[in-house]
Amino acid sequence: MVMQRIYLDNAASTPVADEVIQEMLPYLKQQFGNPSSIHYFGRETTRAIQLARKRVAALIGAARPSEITFTSGGTEADNLAIKGGAERMRSTLQRDHVITSYLEHDAVIEPCLDLERLGYRLTFLPVSPDGTIRPSDLKEALTPRTALVSVMLANNEVGTIQPVKELAALAHAAGALFHTDAVQAAGKIPVDVQDLGVDMLSMSSHKINGPKGVGALYVRHGLEILPLIHGGGQESALRSGTENVHGIVGFGKACELAAARLPERQKQVTELRNHLIKRVLAEIPHSRLNGSSGSNSSRLPGNAHFTFFGVNGEDLIIKLDENGIAASTGSACSVKKQKPSHVLKAMGFSYEEITGSLRLSLSWQNTREEVDRAVDVLAQVVHELRSLSPFKSKYT
Ligand SMILES: Cc1ncc(COP(=O)(O)O)c(C=O)c1O
Repeated sequence: MVMQRIYLDNAASTPVADEVIQEMLPYLKQQFGNPSSIHYFGRETTRAIQLARKRVAALIGAARPSEITFTSGGTEADNLAIKGGAERMRSTLQRDHVITSYLEHDAVIEPCLDLERLGYRLTFLPVSPDGTIRPSDLKEALTPRTALVSVMLANNEVGTIQPVKELAALAHAAGALFHTDAVQAAGKIPVDVQDLGVDMLSMSSHKINGPKGVGALYVRHGLEILPLIHGGGQESALRSGTENVHGIVGFGKACELAAARLPERQKQVTELRNHLIKRVLAEIPHSRLNGSSGSNSSRLPGNAHFTFFGVNGEDLIIKLDENGIAASTGSACSVKKQKPSHVLKAMGFSYEEITGSLRLSLSWQNTREEVDRAVDVLAQVVHELRSLSPFKSKYT
């Protein structure tokens, strides 16, 4: 019998929607022109990119499509914002201080560390135990030399939503640029760049049922940042290289679909997630929900992040996979690096709390039956692993 697999790792990636594939196909076949060409084939692909740019801009409330620059994904968008923004501030205003947080994805942390190697001063904001950044900490860290602040809109591991509007206002009051990584947020919760008041915002297509290898950076009109990739001057000279036309078209369609269905999906996924959390906490002893909780919880709709005491999260994932359930300990990238999560460390977790952690990330494509089956399997697997553990008597 073929095992019915249940995919609960939607924060890592999502399946490409049928409508997205249909929209992409012509650009892999007959519409193969180079957008830089002036003949019919070039004009057709240019038109397709313009439509995608409008759709991406609409999802995040950008006033002008020209504020969207297509990139090879969220990682490149983060690098472009951080390095391109900071280098511009250093060359024009001699500002050489960058502020970020321990909550960030490596796609933000690594370019910030690279700036440090280039002579910038780097400050990491601390993280509260529930996984949020406190505006008072940012206020304290800002100096007249701060070039750029980068704090994510929603965290990929524990799913917390950050007070970005407040943080951006503080950065601006100190004359610094503000960037936010919205890779996990855009298309899942309402995102409006004008309301948030951010200068730059990163997005990624494959988190919202679009193809992989494409993303975008929103850069507020009038703000000039320096490019990372130089060449033929595509994307208003901010990102040279022949455009990934089919990818961009697919990303545009994914944004259009996400925008049209956002309220209903947000509600549906939140309800499913709450059902999952309720069952796990009620039925699995010595389990704890991590991140923001309670009536004012600011958590991404699809995120549920737990610690199962007395269990190793890696073993749990392997056992779940053997039973057809796809889950994760947190960031897909950190898993390959085999290092404990810097996010959980910054939240003050002990070694045991970090190793026993598991992220289940849901999407609108998951059903209640899938969640129920996953909880049944999880309860059984946690019990099995604990009974094999040297701390057996403590947790069984
Ligand atoms: C918060 C965050 N930022 C950036 C990225 C990187 O995006 P991409 O996979 O498109 O490079 C991810 C991907 O997991 C993410 O979760």
